[in-house]
Amino acid sequence: MNEQPLVVLGVTGSIAAYKAADLTSKLVQAGIEVRVVMTESATRLVQAQTFLTLSRQPVVTDLWSLPTWQPEHIALAERAALLAIVPATANILGKMANGIADDALSTFALSQAGPILVAPAMNPRMWANRAVQANCARLRDWGVTFVGPGSGRVACGDEGTGRLAPVEDILAAILARLGR
Ligand SMILES: Cc1cc2nc3c(=O)[nH]c(=O)nc-3n(C[C@H](O)[C@H](O)[C@H](O)COP(=O)(O)O)c2cc1C
Repeated sequence: MNEQPLVVLGVTGSIAAYKAADLTSKLVQAGIEVRVVMTESATRLVQAQTFLTLSRQPVVTDLWSLPTWQPEHIALAERAALLAIVPATANILGKMANGIADDALSTFALSQAGPILVAPAMNPRMWANRAVQANCARLRDWGVTFVGPGSGRVACGDEGTGRLAPVEDILAAILARLGR
């Protein structure tokens, strides 16, 4: 295995997106190369600059701004040891379960042949929604690893299942998936 494995970290538009910054820092400290791909919604909650600084790598926020001749989602997919989506919204889970590729992250997810790990985060009513549960069952069936969600109080004040799993648990699951 490559001495410094590449993890593509997808960050989506959940209020828990700020916790992905902590995860980025911990992955880098663990010797992992982290390349962050943010959805447009995620950039409304956390600045790309935060991930640029913590990962020390360019951050992809737009499918159409190409730094090289090769589309970034193809170039990264060839090197990625793991795609981790933290936090994963109901929306990205639905897109992945239905083959939709309409932005940089969902397009990357479709071009990723290797392992995928997701850590969902959403309001408990969203998590309990039948469409969301069916999408997650489908993704699990296809071999996607789920970490969480946990139970407790979510940001909007509701109680139930939907909280992002603790960053330490997600970090441990990523390192285990990489065999480290
Ligand atoms: C402040 C705020 C917080 C949100 N938090 C969540 C969340 O935790 N989980 C979720 O699934 N959607 C959440 N949403 C809704 C998503 O941002 C919305 O569904 C969006 O289309 C997701 O796009 P993306 O999956 O491309 O990031 C939130 C929206 C706002 C305005």
